[in-house]
Amino acid sequence: MAKEISLTGDRPTGPLHIGHLFGSLLSRKELESEYESYVMVADVQALTDNFDHPEKVRENVYEVVADNIAIGLDPKKTTFFIQSQIPQIAELTVFYSNLVTINTLKRNPTVKAEIAEKKDLFGKEGESVTYGFLGYPISQAADITIVRSNIVPVGSDQLPMIEQTREIIERFHRIYPTKTNVFPLPEAKLSDTPKIIGLDGSAKMSKSLNNAIYIKDTPEEIAEKIRTAKTDSGSAIGPINPNESIPLWNLIRIYAAIHKQKPTDAINDLQGMKYSSFKNKLAIDLNNYLAPIRDKRSTLKQAYLKEVLEYGLKKVIVKAEETMSLVRKAMNIDY
Ligand code: TRP
Repeated sequence: MAKEISLTGDRPTGPLHIGHLFGSLLSRKELESEYESYVMVADVQALTDNFDHPEKVRENVYEVVADNIAIGLDPKKTTFFIQSQIPQIAELTVFYSNLVTINTLKRNPTVKAEIAEKKDLFGKEGESVTYGFLGYPISQAADITIVRSNIVPVGSDQLPMIEQTREIIERFHRIYPTKTNVFPLPEAKLSDTPKIIGLDGSAKMSKSLNNAIYIKDTPEEIAEKIRTAKTDSGSAIGPINPNESIPLWNLIRIYAAIHKQKPTDAINDLQGMKYSSFKNKLAIDLNNYLAPIRDKRSTLKQAYLKEVLEYGLKKVIVKAEETMSLVRKAMNIDY
């Protein structure tokens, strides 16, 4: 029987951070042998809030592919490709646009939070938000379905996008019925660490907020970032209420992810430890964890990454056209 299909994507706006690593990259690794696997470099999506800085997007295309390969994905098993090189995704986005209301887009919690965060670009009250940015979940539905994915390994911030994708597909099948459905209904695959917040305690770890640890960070950068990470007014680890001490709990989740433990077990092991000793230990352990990844990353040449993406493009373009001919037929526009 044919393998089921996994697809996910990364926006090339900077190197990937440990939120990506523990939220999605490690799940990709788990899935890659069992599934026909795709990782898309989401340059079109990255342009929705960087349209005036295309050079920033361009610079980071190879960075995100390097991060993925460095953590252990095998380009012979996982197909990497660039979103803008598959015009069928843009075509499918246009057809899907008819199936989503503007009100639904405005209510998407992840998009709402991003608009609120990007006041310079989209205005204090989001009054200058663009059609392209508000609509990126539609384009993401097209990313996911262009290869007819069954599973999407993501962090929890992406759940509204998967839900939106499912609604679009259900609507598509209702309005354009065919004997066998064109698409499977994709499921999100969440890891045990589906969300890591910023080191400053803000809701999101992100490059733009300058509160992230990158997969490629040096030992010195890691140590300094953890040393200055927010905790709370206490001084030693006691029983923690995760809802009250959110930044400290976040560090413990990172610790637990490295040691493949449940956060509640990690906290038992760490009882009584001074915050400063815990931070030292976390910095050392995280560095040990990332060191082999960093080493591998430094051996990846741009020419090789380019080859990986060229190989991926050839494979995906065939699959994408196959999907579009099914879509055009279902929509009765297969002239
Ligand atoms: N929105 C995702 C992010 O911000 C990136 C992405 C684009 C994606 N297309 C996708 C993720 C398709 C999963 C599936 O990280």
